[in-house]
Amino acid sequence: MYALIRPLLYSLPAETAHRLVMAGLRFLAHVPFLLRWVRSRFAPTDSLLRVDALGLTFSTPIGLAAGMDKDAEAFEAFGALGFGFVEVGTLTAHPQPGNPRPRLFRLVEDRALINRMGFNNHGARAAAERIAATTERNTVLGINIGKSKVVPNEAALDDYAQSAAFLAPHADYLVVNVSSPNTPGLRDLQAVSVLRPLLVRVRNELDTVERARRIPLLLKIAPDLADADIDAVAELALELKLDGVIATNTTITRAGLQASPAVVSELGAGGLSGAPLKQRALAVLRRLRAKLGDQVVLIAAGGIENADDAWARIRAGATLIQLYTGLVYEGPDLPRRIADGLAARVREAGLTSITNAIGSEANHRGSSS
Ligand SMILES: Cc1cc2nc3c(=O)[nH]c(=O)nc-3n(C[C@H](O)[C@H](O)[C@H](O)COP(=O)(O)O)c2cc1C
Repeated sequence: MYALIRPLLYSLPAETAHRLVMAGLRFLAHVPFLLRWVRSRFAPTDSLLRVDALGLTFSTPIGLAAGMDKDAEAFEAFGALGFGFVEVGTLTAHPQPGNPRPRLFRLVEDRALINRMGFNNHGARAAAERIAATTERNTVLGINIGKSKVVPNEAALDDYAQSAAFLAPHADYLVVNVSSPNTPGLRDLQAVSVLRPLLVRVRNELDTVERARRIPLLLKIAPDLADADIDAVAELALELKLDGVIATNTTITRAGLQASPAVVSELGAGGLSGAPLKQRALAVLRRLRAKLGDQVVLIAAGGIENADDAWARIRAGATLIQLYTGLVYEGPDLPRRIADGLAARVREAGLTSITNAIGSEANHRGSSS
């Protein structure tokens, strides 16, 4: 089916195609009987894939990465398509239009995208109202927050805290995003000296707003951090008892692309996602796992486009995985296909649960060395 629709979508500018798809999914999200039908057809139910993490139960470890459903308009539709969880956002305290268009590009031969969306969103308050109005909640919902462009880095703490306050009552988990390349200066917030007070402030805000429930707090990092900076983030995660780290966001590098350098440079600045990000994202994940042991949940993102990729990340220490670009190239049955492939690999390995495979690469290495 997607093979038929794909050429039509690809004949449109990338963002127009995205908007068309989102309009369809928004519609689906508002028709309960259709939603139930899609869920019964697509959503995997194999109990082997169930993951208990972050105090939550995930029907599968396969999630939708942030950026696709920025304004939390269709998360139940993505859940019905078979995602075990959906991360909405990035949301900012101030509504903002994002960068001028065009700002999203396909690199088809690389199975990649370049985007410089710039956190276009209707704001944290509007998203909170929309989520609150959702009558039937069946999908684990992560909420990703970032800094408003109009706010300078010196005032970032208040800005993040404001978003956290709006969204805390609706979040199954909350992510502090300091790793988008498309908000000037944002990635400077990854320096531990700045990150520590920011994360402490957001944690306090969550605990103040939601006294009866501890909302898991995660940090999303860039793949472009130097190894020493990854280690520093890992130490901070342990010090602050962060619940999780998401590795990784998009990269500003352009190495190893099939597309010609002239074409790539013409597209301009932005974050590269998809297949070319795979190796670096896996390396960052391995480094984090080595530093963190099993004390902090790791969510892997970056270039995951099939069950082999997902299995490799889980074996390298990811408890959960996320994807975005793979969905654009492979179509809406991708979460289902990955789930089926993962269940088959769990059975082949003689395991009774996918959770037994988490980090198993290290055990294997250990026993064979
Ligand atoms: C068009 C687009 C927009 C994105 N927007 C966000 C965002 O708002 N916040 C965020 O944390 N990550 C955002 N991302 C990054 C993804 O969540 C993900 O980390 C990255 O694309 C790597 O995964 P992938 O290779 O499966 O796409 C965006 C990615 C794309 C392609």
